[in-house]
Amino acid sequence: MKVRKAVITAAGWGNRFLPVTRSQPKEMLPLVDKPLIQYAVEEAIKAGIEQVIMVTAMGKRAIEDYFDRAFELEYFLERKGEAALLKQMKEISGMVDICYVRQKEQLGLGQAIYTAKNIIGDEPFAVMLPDDIILGKVTALKRMIEIYDEYGAGVIAVEAVAKEDTGKYGIIEPRPVSGRIYEILSLVEKPEPAHAPSRLGIVGRYVLPSLIFDVLQVTPPDRHKEIQVTDALQLLLKQQKLYAYELEGIRYDTGTPLGWLKANMALALKHDDFGPELRKYLKGLL
Ligand code: G1P
Repeated sequence: MKVRKAVITAAGWGNRFLPVTRSQPKEMLPLVDKPLIQYAVEEAIKAGIEQVIMVTAMGKRAIEDYFDRAFELEYFLERKGEAALLKQMKEISGMVDICYVRQKEQLGLGQAIYTAKNIIGDEPFAVMLPDDIILGKVTALKRMIEIYDEYGAGVIAVEAVAKEDTGKYGIIEPRPVSGRIYEILSLVEKPEPAHAPSRLGIVGRYVLPSLIFDVLQVTPPDRHKEIQVTDALQLLLKQQKLYAYELEGIRYDTGTPLGWLKANMALALKHDDFGPELRKYLKGLL
């Protein structure tokens, strides 16, 4: 069955980015000249996704407003003769079909995904964590959907993480299959380095079968009373295979100030308008 829908989770508090996120969603922070959530939406579109299900929460209305039509702004830009900007504004609201569900309590990534159950129905779907920005020639989600189609099983993005960082990620126990593809033998959420089955950490892109919803329903909460998707995937493994795809390109965790700054720099230096001047400016600073 074709992967047509993507769940984008945007319900977290953004506590690694406080105080900035006290009064605005982290997903709306700019990455050069676009809010960072737009990168996930654009990646979904490039991967052939037809509908995005955004999981939001209290305090996240700016995201809905951003992807909505902005009639007053359009009227104003038209009167001013700002044709290019007007076109760009219209494109944002027409990008893709987006619907919104709310996670009413912060009960973990697994529970956030579960809120989209009724909209996904009985078909495979993608999950995207918009903090993880993946830059490179290959569109990560597109490649993952191809692997899903080839192997007929769920696919999770991974990348090698530093040994001391295993406690920040879900970690897989891999069996090499071919090139960047591994079969997942087991997976564990945020293990201490001494207990990590490998250094391949889960990155925020998943292609999952709808069976995950049944599994999430019976996944026990962790010690913080949160339902983790990694724990659900470990249970799912008892019923079917799962594969991992080792990302090509560079991943930035824009959920932290340093990761966000690095992503801004990397993108801005490549930007046609700002790149050359920024390069000169940075050389001067250094
Ligand atoms: C979540 C997942 C974790 C994954 C990470 C990727 O953790 O639970 O398995 O490695 O995203 O960004 P979080 O960073 O939301 O705590």
